[in-house]
Amino acid sequence: MARLSFAPSVLLLLVVAVAVAAEGSSFDDSNPIRMVSGGLRDFESQVLQVVGYTRHALSFARFANRYGKNYETVAEMKLRFGIFSENLKLIRSTNKKGLPYSLAVNHFADWTWEEFQRHRLGAAQNCSATLKGNHKLTDAVLPNTQDWRKANIVSPVKDQGHCGSCWTFSTTGALEAAYKQAFGKEISLSEQQLVDCAGAFNNFGCHGGLPSQAFEYIKYNGGLETEEAYPYTGQDGTCKFSAENVAVQVVDSVNITKGAEDELKHAVGIVRPVSVAFEVVTGFRFYKKGVYTSDTCGNEPTDVNHAVLAVGYGVEDGVPYWLIKNSWGADWGDNGYFKMELGKNMCGVATCASYPVVA
Ligand SMILES: *[C@@H]1O[C@H](CO)[C@@H](O)[C@H](O)[C@H]1NC(C)=O
Ligand SMILES: *[C@@H]1O[C@H](CO)[C@@H](O)[C@H](O)[C@H]1NC(C)=O
Repeated sequence: MARLSFAPSVLLLLVVAVAVAAEGSSFDDSNPIRMVSGGLRDFESQVLQVVGYTRHALSFARFANRYGKNYETVAEMKLRFGIFSENLKLIRSTNKKGLPYSLAVNHFADWTWEEFQRHRLGAAQNCSATLKGNHKLTDAVLPNTQDWRKANIVSPVKDQGHCGSCWTFSTTGALEAAYKQAFGKEISLSEQQLVDCAGAFNNFGCHGGLPSQAFEYIKYNGGLETEEAYPYTGQDGTCKFSAENVAVQVVDSVNITKGAEDELKHAVGIVRPVSVAFEVVTGFRFYKKGVYTSDTCGNEPTDVNHAVLAVGYGVEDGVPYWLIKNSWGADWGDNGYFKMELGKNMCGVATCASYPVVA
């Protein structure tokens, strides 16, 4: 029976969770060793009591163990198991379709789509200010493929946590790359300053914003502090900017004309990484690898709900793609990155793109 193959650590986790819920005591003052001493038989009946005798139970137990999920009550565990099962069905049915990408269980698998939208995505922003861009095309021959990570200018993947601040990470990612490219020095820049201080430029902290508007803010504000000087809290706060901590200045920002993937490719190919936005639809949160494509996402300025950083492009199994850095941690997707089909303005990837010029 599958249940017998549970790893000991999984046994421990679930037994503790169930026992704690039953006794109403807190995790800290319970003794996990004593709780498992009842053995496997107790464990089995407890797990069956909580999540039922279903074929998804083993996957759920592994998931909960791997991501350190801590469910406070039996009801909560049942609820999360139900959501997990639905997500697992979505992942498996998508993977059977023979698409150029695949999905996998990740730390979001016990959240509903509504919860995910609330915790990770900004409200769709109307990025119509980039209807007409100012990126200049040249005759330069573009490289066939590009990956700015190989030039060593792309900073490590960060994690935005429970805040719709993707636009601040897209902004700092673009600036960190521009800074390294210009000065040869690594830098980590403050997202929190943007969350707290960039409101006058039509940004809304944990409720969304746009990199192009963040670049404008930084330009008029006189700079952006480092991560260390103005650390990330992942919550809306009051502005604590201090001019003496400024680490980078933006002299200009360049917008890509709405939907013009040729401009975007030119910029990503020969200039540097570019901030882009797109519409995340339900399955995307479980992306694992391959070239993402969707026939349900939109590409209008009012559709896009997530800002990220395009750091390259290429072709995989005949499908052209954008290589994009996300801000959901390095464990998410393909080491924190994903590929998105290139050539169809897929999910609005070229609808509101822009990059900064640093001083
Ligand atoms: C988006 O902005 C444009 C230009 O400012 C405006 O015409 C349009 O009505 C806006 N759309 C929405 C849905 O707010
Ligand atoms: C780029 O877009 C931003 C807002 O999205 C706007 O404020 C700025 O003026 C635009 N820049 C140019 C040069 O058009």
